[in-house]
Amino acid sequence: MLKFILPAFVLIASCLGSPVSQNRRFPNDFRWGVASSSYQIEGGWNADDKGESIWDFLTHNHPEKIVDRSNGDISSDSYHQWKRDVQMVKELHAGTYRFSLSWPRIMPGGYMNHVSTAGIKYYSNLIDELLRYNITPMVTIYHWDMPQRLQELGGWTNPEIIPVFKDFARLVIEMFGDRVKTWITINEPWHVCEHGYGVDYMAPSYNYPGIPAYLCGHNILKAHAEVVHMYRELFQQRQGGRIGITIDSSWAEPKDANSAEDREASERALQFYVGWFAHPIFSKHGNYPKVMIERIRNLSKEQGFGVRSRLPEFTQEEIRRIRGTSDFFGLNTYTSNLVTSNGHNNTGNFPVPSFNHDMGVVESKDPEWPGSGSEWLKVFPKGMYNLLMWIHREYNAPEIIITENGVSDRGGLDDYARVDYYNLYLSAVLDAIEDGANVRGYTAWSLMDSYEWKVGYTEKFGLYHVDFNSPERTRTPKVSARVFAQICKTNTIDWSYRPTLDEEQQLVAMAQLPEEDQVARTSGASGIMSWSLTGLLIVALFR
Ligand SMILES: *[C@@H]1O[C@H](CO)[C@@H](O)[C@H](O)[C@H]1NC(C)=O
Ligand SMILES: *[C@@H]1O[C@H](CO)[C@@H](O)[C@H](O)[C@H]1NC(C)=O
Repeated sequence: MLKFILPAFVLIASCLGSPVSQNRRFPNDFRWGVASSSYQIEGGWNADDKGESIWDFLTHNHPEKIVDRSNGDISSDSYHQWKRDVQMVKELHAGTYRFSLSWPRIMPGGYMNHVSTAGIKYYSNLIDELLRYNITPMVTIYHWDMPQRLQELGGWTNPEIIPVFKDFARLVIEMFGDRVKTWITINEPWHVCEHGYGVDYMAPSYNYPGIPAYLCGHNILKAHAEVVHMYRELFQQRQGGRIGITIDSSWAEPKDANSAEDREASERALQFYVGWFAHPIFSKHGNYPKVMIERIRNLSKEQGFGVRSRLPEFTQEEIRRIRGTSDFFGLNTYTSNLVTSNGHNNTGNFPVPSFNHDMGVVESKDPEWPGSGSEWLKVFPKGMYNLLMWIHREYNAPEIIITENGVSDRGGLDDYARVDYYNLYLSAVLDAIEDGANVRGYTAWSLMDSYEWKVGYTEKFGLYHVDFNSPERTRTPKVSARVFAQICKTNTIDWSYRPTLDEEQQLVAMAQLPEEDQVARTSGASGIMSWSLTGLLIVALFR
């Protein structure tokens, strides 16, 4: 279905006046990159003296929670294939590589008493190799792989994590800060807290709605701020780098644009998803968004929690200390939701209390939006534009770096749907830039196929295909890699550039699929074929 809707979308967009047939150019100093994360690509889960992470623990003890019962024990094996990874970044003409550090690889038990020489050496080599090719490393300090031992103390819900995280950050900045000039403290705090503690989704899978996610958020904000202050006091001047945080959100599109209630629901959703973490850091006055403070306080009281809100309170001193602690706004975004207001008493879908009930918003997807390889990811490029403009207005024009954006499918190297996604979403980014948003860079998700958390290896986001059956985890560029390389190289979206699979790619595509996959793939192949033909036809029309 996707294959037929997308061309229609291109067609419609063109009728609405978007110049899809014209090449569009980004500013000369726009920075292109690609992204990955440690647990998703590294493998080597117990190599050398690496400690256990919460993802090792979850996947080994609860394989039933993973769609294909898989784990990241080997994954794309970047612990051994890192030189090839750097080559790929180079092939893509990407100037930046965003990757993350595995905390238990560097500090096996989470604490400073045991630092792994092998862990330090691994990242040090990777950084040197990137610099050898003139690629700028952008390093995420925490991308979800908490040492299991620290989780046993409550992980992010225990305030003890604040100084311990600061120790970890200090060590890596001391080790790598001479060569790393862009730091991201924490990736997607909303996911870490709500999906890790509020529901049974990401590790540690607490499934404890309405309370621990807010404790997690509170400690994450403080830990982030402490690391940034430490960096600014001890390192920034000498090392000349920058530090920030990456926040994720979908755009919240009012279900009925004419309904004031739906528009309010949209605003409230953005305050709960983005504002929870962005308001304390990027707003003029700091602290949590007013609507969050009031709603959660009111509901807590109604629910019998007494005068203490489930959302913890910051002191004035803490509010000041957190405000302004980011040199840029890192944004991860993939999709949009339609939103309406949830009736005060509507508890049918959400537990009480819970984040979702506190937010009071019901989400759905527009059936008109093209799909992807993931249930949650529908294609609505205007959502990218709207979200960028909302952040631009809400936080007084911060510098924005899009640290993740991309689309999934179920496999294959002829990924024209991904090509369309990148072209359309990047065009929306350019619209926002033209309307004043200060977007300075974009790192595509993802460099290669990797372990996609709860959906294992069933959903693919890579520009490079990884053969998970080969011992070397052979990487092969998909069509989208060719297109993205062209974008990075020329700074331009070229709608007519749609390379076909070369011989090598075709061989790889066929040969490496296991038999049962080949059957599944063949049934999808006719659709892909007709889509690529339709795409070519449409492109031909516009030339
Ligand atoms: C919270 O309760 C107060 C007092 O009843 C009320 O004035 C206010 O509008 C409520 N706020 C929200 C966001 O529900
Ligand atoms: C919610 O339900 C309670 C109990 O049924 C009722 O007293 C109250 O008026 C309802 N509130 C709203 C806003 O509908």
